[in-house]
Order: sequence, then C-alpha cells, then structure tokens
Amino acid sequence: MQIRFFLAGVFSVALVLTVQPVRAQTPPEPPAGMNGPHGPWPKPTNLHVLPKNISHDDLMKVMHGFTGSLGVKCNYCHAPGTQPRHLDFASDAKPEKRIARTMIRMTREINKKYLSEVNVADAKPEQKNVTCGTCHRGHDIPVVFVPPPEHEHGMPGGMPPPGGPPKPQ
Ligand code: HEC
Ligand code: HEC
Repeated sequence: MQIRFFLAGVFSVALVLTVQPVRAQTPPEPPAGMNGPHGPWPKPTNLHVLPKNISHDDLMKVMHGFTGSLGVKCNYCHAPGTQPRHLDFASDAKPEKRIARTMIRMTREINKKYLSEVNVADAKPEQKNVTCGTCHRGHDIPVVFVPPPEHEHGMPGGMPPPGGPPKPQ
C-alpha cells in the first residue's frame, strides 16, 4: 500500500516538475474524496509554484511524493494550526516549506533547461528527469555519495584518473 502511494507520488511529482504539457482534463466533480481526516479540504489559497488550479488529488499525490522522497511527515514542512493535531497547510511559517518551493523551482529548471537537451537512448522514461527522490532518496538532507573503493583507485583498464585519485569532498 505504502509503496503504491509512494510510486504514485513520484510519478505525479515528475509530471508536475517536468515540462511536458499536462493533458487537458475536464474539471473533476468536486465533493467525493475531498474529505480529509478532519473534514473537507479547503481550496488551496497559497500556491506559488504548483499550478493554482491543481486538483485536490494531484496536490495530494505531489505532497505524498514529498513525504516519501524525503522520509518525513506533512508536519516537516507544514506549521501547526490553531486546533490541536491540525496543520495550517497555507501557512509559510516553516522554513522547510519555503526551501521546498525553491527545490521545486530548481528541479523544474534542471529538467527544463538541461535534461531536455539530453536524450539517452537507454534511459527509461522515468529516468529522464530528476525528481526530489533522485537526490533525497528518503532523507531530508541528501546523503553524501561515497564511491565504492575499487572506483577510487583508477579508471577502467587501470588508467589513473586525470589529476590523480579523487580526494573525498
Ligand atoms: C517537503 C515539504 C512538504 C511536505 C513534506 C508536505 N508539503 Fe504540503 N506543501 C509544500 C509546499 C512547498 C506547498 C506550497 C506549494 C506552492 O507554493 O505552490 C504545499 C502546499 C500544500 C497544501 C496547499 C495549502 C494552501 O492552501 O495553499 C496542502 C493542502 C498541503 N500542502 C498538504 C500536505 C499534506 C497533506 C502533506 C503530507 C501528506 C504535505 N502537504 C507534505 C511542502 C510540503
Ligand atoms: C539535485 C539534487 C536535489 C533535488 C532534485 C532536490 N533536492 Fe532538496 N536538497 C538538496 C540538497 C543538496 C539540499 C541541502 C542544501 C543545503 O543545505 O545547502 C537539499 C535540501 C532540501 C530541504 C531542506 C532540508 C533541511 O534539513 O532543512 C528540503 C525541504 C528539500 N531539499 C526538499 C526538496 C524537494 C521537495 C524536492 C523536490 C521538489 C527536492 N528537495 C529536490 C538536493 C536536491
């Protein structure tokens, strides 16, 4: 179940973060499925980077993509509301939410400006773009990649890399 949520999130995050035009959709009938754990979801009032007319379902897929990709819960980015156990989703009080907006813009820019020029034949469609998960892989701060030892001692064929072995960053 969780895995399905995660994947759905990842794919729709990809959709929102890439440049492919989103297929024109007939506007969904509102009510059904619009009820959150604490009553009906209000219409978003504070979207600055996601499409303002995003459907509730798509917004939730994007948000579940964030929680899965960063290994966090909604309250990592969203500040508490006035009632206990409620979050004020429209509030920008938490710095993590503001950083997340920058990250959405950055991810779009990477895909639009750079990866759109690259078309590796072997890359599967879901490998052609970066998503939050490409870097974060379940962590709020991306983990530093340390190459396995054999790659540190030279290039394939025993050639030393130009400039000597890489120094750890
Ligand atoms: C990594 C940070 C992050 C996480 C985790 C996150 N969100 Fe968000 N959320 C955002 C950002 C950023 C926006 C605003 C996007 C924009 O400006 O277009 C937002 C907007 C929203 C909105 C619209 C609020 C409004 O009125 O404008 C709702 C509702 C929402 N999130 C629900 C959730 C739920 C439910 C979860 C947990 C499943 C969640 N979010 C997890 C970053 C996050
Ligand atoms: C190209 C790699 C990359 C991608 C893609 C990426 N991030 Fe990040 N993210 C980083 C790095 C690196 C940092 C730490 C930056 C720093 O501290 O200077 C970071 C930091 C963050 C933080 C702050 C963590 C903290 O502890 O305060 C949030 C929140 C975040 N990213 C959310 C996202 C979301 C949401 C997405 C997808 C829309 C995303 N990131 C996509 C590399 C990436």
